[in-house]
Amino acid sequence: MNVDDLRLRLSQAGQEHLLQFWDELDEAQQAELYAELHAMDFEELNVFFRKATEGFNLSSQQEKVDARMEPVPRGVLGSATRDQDQLQAWESEGLFQISQSKVAVLLLAGGQGTRLGVAYPKGMYDVGLPSHKTLFQIQAERILKLQQLAEERCGRPCTIPWYIMTSGRTMEPTQEFFARHAHFGLRRENVIFFQQGMLPAMSFDGKIILEDKNKVSMAPDGNGGLYRALAAQRLVEDMERRGVRSVHVYCVDNILVKVADPRFIGFCTQKGADCGAKVVEKTNPTEPVGVVCRVDGVFQVVEYSEISLATAQRRGPDGRLLFSAGNIANHFFTVPFLRDVVNVHEPQLRHHVAQKKVPCVDSQGRVVKPEKPNGIKMEKFVFDIFQFAKKFVVYEVLREDEFSPLKNADSQNGKDNPTTARHALMSLHHCWVLNAGGHFVDENGSRLPAIPRLKDANDVPIQCEISPLVSYGGEGLESHVAGREFHAPLIIDERGVHELVKNGL
Ligand code: UTP
Repeated sequence: MNVDDLRLRLSQAGQEHLLQFWDELDEAQQAELYAELHAMDFEELNVFFRKATEGFNLSSQQEKVDARMEPVPRGVLGSATRDQDQLQAWESEGLFQISQSKVAVLLLAGGQGTRLGVAYPKGMYDVGLPSHKTLFQIQAERILKLQQLAEERCGRPCTIPWYIMTSGRTMEPTQEFFARHAHFGLRRENVIFFQQGMLPAMSFDGKIILEDKNKVSMAPDGNGGLYRALAAQRLVEDMERRGVRSVHVYCVDNILVKVADPRFIGFCTQKGADCGAKVVEKTNPTEPVGVVCRVDGVFQVVEYSEISLATAQRRGPDGRLLFSAGNIANHFFTVPFLRDVVNVHEPQLRHHVAQKKVPCVDSQGRVVKPEKPNGIKMEKFVFDIFQFAKKFVVYEVLREDEFSPLKNADSQNGKDNPTTARHALMSLHHCWVLNAGGHFVDENGSRLPAIPRLKDANDVPIQCEISPLVSYGGEGLESHVAGREFHAPLIIDERGVHELVKNGL
């Protein structure tokens, strides 16, 4: 350990307070702190802080962008409901791309999952489905099924590589979980784990915050940390080596996610897009969701807090909200676009600032939990790169078919929790059974009404779960269910059709 050298670097960067408790630490604690600080580039951190907070008034409201916003033009919009005559063609194109092993998926799983509040990575969460599958397993099985569908359609074996971004805290348990489950049947070499960067929390005057005498307060650098991580670990080169042409990027918490959705891939490919966003219709003006739109002619996501209520409430001639393209962090990027982002654009992006209550040590070295924000976290967002697209497209899908994120614990909030996620999946699968000609009956043998969609959070759906290994998006179920009547709970998996009560399970 060269502590003098470290002290010099710290004082040159105005961060010498980080060693203020050095003499009180035992040897192991000193080694720990030294290792953490030695690896940091303080000059770079100071630049990040300066750029991120430039023009950011910590006390004022965010600047509104209403006057500069335009909605997504119909010409770059594809819709799963309004363009039904195109869906078959998009799906064929997507399956063709997949069958040529030209499509990869990339999972953003580096978040801390603070709101859900479990001590393990969110992808390992079991929302309580009849099968007790975790989010990771559901996604893995969708990949397996899609490979099979593409192979059947095009008559050749194919691979969808799965890139999984983790962070300091989620890397080890995630890898260990996959190893324990034999990568859920995927080939080990096609599941590529990588780690995003971390950044320290900083006080409002740019001092790095200590959470303990020997420990800096660190957090992942946002889901837009993806691009720096891709560069650092040369993963765009890995994609090129594998012959991948496009990548579907998505979040770990959406239980309905259609990984490598062939229709979305096919739509973006046929449009010649280098960048695409899948969205759901925002129907309530006050829903706190970012919307995809153009600002000063450039596509971006505008957060709810950046627009006035009057703008959020504006409606078009068809009665829909004018700014209705709700971002669900489901993106398409071509590999050449990612290469440009990583090599040229990403370093120019500045971090977003979030004010936080950051646990820290006071001048006496006592750990304090502040009651109001005392510092900032710096993060980049995955959608920050839309502005660099040469051809940007938007694909709109039905929320109830494709989006139900797991954010909160059941105890906390009636929204986006394990119950809503479980209900969303079972309600969708109930629909699939009905569409394929099956029916549910009650204990007296009377048919249950075919209205599977849930109206509010207190509705309980029929318990019905279909393994992704049997059906990716509702296809291929006729031979299992057409003309049959079922008692719930119903599970359809690769071993057959199981009515759990009837079978005494
Ligand atoms: P969220 O912003 O919802 O964060 O992430 P979170 O970690 O899941 O939950 P909270 O806010 O701490 O409660 C949206 C997606 O982006 C990923 C998450 O794993 C999730 O898939 N993410 C977020 C990252 O990969 N890295 C990050 O630094 C932040």
